Amino acid sequence: MQRKSNLIVIENNKFHFMSGNCSYVIGVNPYGYLENYYFGNRISDIGSLRNRSIDRGHGVKFRGSNGEYADASQFFSEYACFGLGDYREPSLSVTLPNGSRISDLKYCGYSLVKKDLSSALPKTAGGESLEIDLYDEVAKLKVILCYTVYPELSAIVRSTRIVNESDEPISIDRAYSFNLDIPNNQYDMVSLCGAHLRERYIVRDHLTQGVHKIDSKRGISSSQRNPFVALCEKNATEHTGDVFGFSLIYSGSFALNIELSECNTARIQGGINDFDFAWKLESGCSFETPEAVLVYSACGMNGMSQTFHDLFRNYLISPEKVYRRRPIVINNWEGTYFDFDEPKLIAIIDSVKDTGIDTFVLDDGWFGKRNDDKTSLGDWTVNLEKLPKGLRVISDYCHQNKMKFGLWFEPEMISPDSELYRAHPDWAICAPHRTPCLGRHQMVLDITRQEVLDYLKKQISELIETVGIDFMKWDCNRCLTEFYSACLPPEREKEFSHRYVLALYELYRYFEDHYPDVFIEGCASGGGRFDAGILRYSPQIWTSDNSDAYARSMIQYGTSYVYPLSSMSCHVSVCPNHQCGRTTPFQSRQEIAALGAFGYELDTTKLTPTEKDLLREYNRQYLMDEELILRGDLFRLVNPYEENLFAEMIISKDRTCAILTVMVPLAEANKPFDRIRLVGLDEKRHYMCVEEQKCYSASELLNRGFDIPNTHGDFKTMVRHFQVV
Ligand code: DGJ
Repeated sequence: MQRKSNLIVIENNKFHFMSGNCSYVIGVNPYGYLENYYFGNRISDIGSLRNRSIDRGHGVKFRGSNGEYADASQFFSEYACFGLGDYREPSLSVTLPNGSRISDLKYCGYSLVKKDLSSALPKTAGGESLEIDLYDEVAKLKVILCYTVYPELSAIVRSTRIVNESDEPISIDRAYSFNLDIPNNQYDMVSLCGAHLRERYIVRDHLTQGVHKIDSKRGISSSQRNPFVALCEKNATEHTGDVFGFSLIYSGSFALNIELSECNTARIQGGINDFDFAWKLESGCSFETPEAVLVYSACGMNGMSQTFHDLFRNYLISPEKVYRRRPIVINNWEGTYFDFDEPKLIAIIDSVKDTGIDTFVLDDGWFGKRNDDKTSLGDWTVNLEKLPKGLRVISDYCHQNKMKFGLWFEPEMISPDSELYRAHPDWAICAPHRTPCLGRHQMVLDITRQEVLDYLKKQISELIETVGIDFMKWDCNRCLTEFYSACLPPEREKEFSHRYVLALYELYRYFEDHYPDVFIEGCASGGGRFDAGILRYSPQIWTSDNSDAYARSMIQYGTSYVYPLSSMSCHVSVCPNHQCGRTTPFQSRQEIAALGAFGYELDTTKLTPTEKDLLREYNRQYLMDEELILRGDLFRLVNPYEENLFAEMIISKDRTCAILTVMVPLAEANKPFDRIRLVGLDEKRHYMCVEEQKCYSASELLNRGFDIPNTHGDFKTMVRHFQVV
């Protein structure tokens, strides 16, 4: 045996990655190709694992380095080529100078590496990394598969780098981050789909033969489809069954394909969307794909989620900010929309200044001549008609009252009615001879142009420094349409979408490096850019413009499949709710919003005395519970998509304390008791239910369950705290 590191063993041309409780085994088959042998629960001895590309079946045979032929359709490829008889979706597609599109990637070596974190893409840190080199002799193309594993997490992080070692440029038409072929075991496919105000609803379908695609062509990851997909055993539940989860660390147009072949092989692959994509790779240059996280869980969807949460918290999100106490925010958007002036803002601050709310965020409408959404994006100077004394007085007022000051920006956008557009109409994205599409009356800036990035860096930096900004809400209220840059040569126009994302990351990194104390919250027309790429720079992201407590219980439940609670920005708003007209109790709105980074979004000067008391009381409670939100393990107990009940539990890592949150959407008279079996407590211990002052054995709560009292009135929530005794 040749042990190369604590987590990676290499023996007889096989690579065994031992990550958490799982094994990921790949090897070089007799034909010289890299093949996946196994991904699943940890196995101790991989000696008997063999390649599966046995010469049987009726598929096209390709020729290996030893002169034998393998059946291409039986092959469990680790990175699939095109043109060699494997008719499933390839991982790579290139066009060579002579017009050939074939690639033939054979194994040629490996190295243990230290990951380069200075690259243009967000990456996970830590763990141990190995790179495997594949080489196409004819094309002189090197493809480097990068793997990172972690001792405590059942996850593999993968990405791919392509190096052109020929003398001429080649065109990369598709370069996915990863490819995984696994034997089908009657899988279901799970994704998070939706729309504005309905982000990340859970969709689960049985996997059938053919190609199934989850993608975005919008230039942003989007509300419609999240860059996540899972395959689970058809009987898998939240807490049982095999699940494979895949999440892309990318914020632009992406694709995740799942193809079930005629041989019952499931191929999962994904990365940058190859639709409208091509990259001209010059001789001697390399191209790097975003990272993808592959998670294995032997204990259902919830186990998968816990691994994503720990991986993102401990290795992706900025370490200085991830476990920092989150601001309790009052945001004025739903309270005032565009209709505010300085006295109104000061009155809002006054109404909450000693209630535990510690950050005032001034949303859209403070700049240029912006009194509605038709104007001024790009003019990042204060609207003096609205705020004649400027922003500094408001920021100072917050600071004098021991609160922080936050400000809304939409850096990537430009209004046709703006000083910026009048001065630089060419900075807006537009295709030659075409009238640009407007979205929310606005256009998108071509941030791939250096002068545009420089302008944004300068304008926003000046504000941060002169106004005293502690918190930035970074919005993006439309998707891209004309994918075109006036500054790119025609043969590089298909690079635009990816170059846009790289420029976006550069902008994020600039503010992170220059203003490390400024906390950035991501946002895109609600939760339209909730992805692991943005999470790297924004420890929290606005989850949805729909702040109705019941709708939020579903949206947050779905979002938690991949993203930790602390990353979900959640606010209490007024009733009837502005998005769906529903009325829910104030306490329910608080208790659902408290399952995330907590705040308020209403005119607090209009709160009733009872609501004000609840606000003060709840902020105090949130501060006591915040450690659990930041660091705890989430256990989803009852799925609101399936039942008239929502239940989630957060338990500290040491299992000494827990919070149970339940919502009963529709009350029912004389209803039989609901009893919920709790999960995750330490079976050998006893827990005091603080609200009931009653002691329970954990084994009772885990096996018999916890009784949920009957509720009177719709959308009532109930929170119970448990302390180990
Ligand atoms: C969309 C965001 O989701 C809202 O919270 C708000 O900031 C508006 N944009 C402002 O235009």
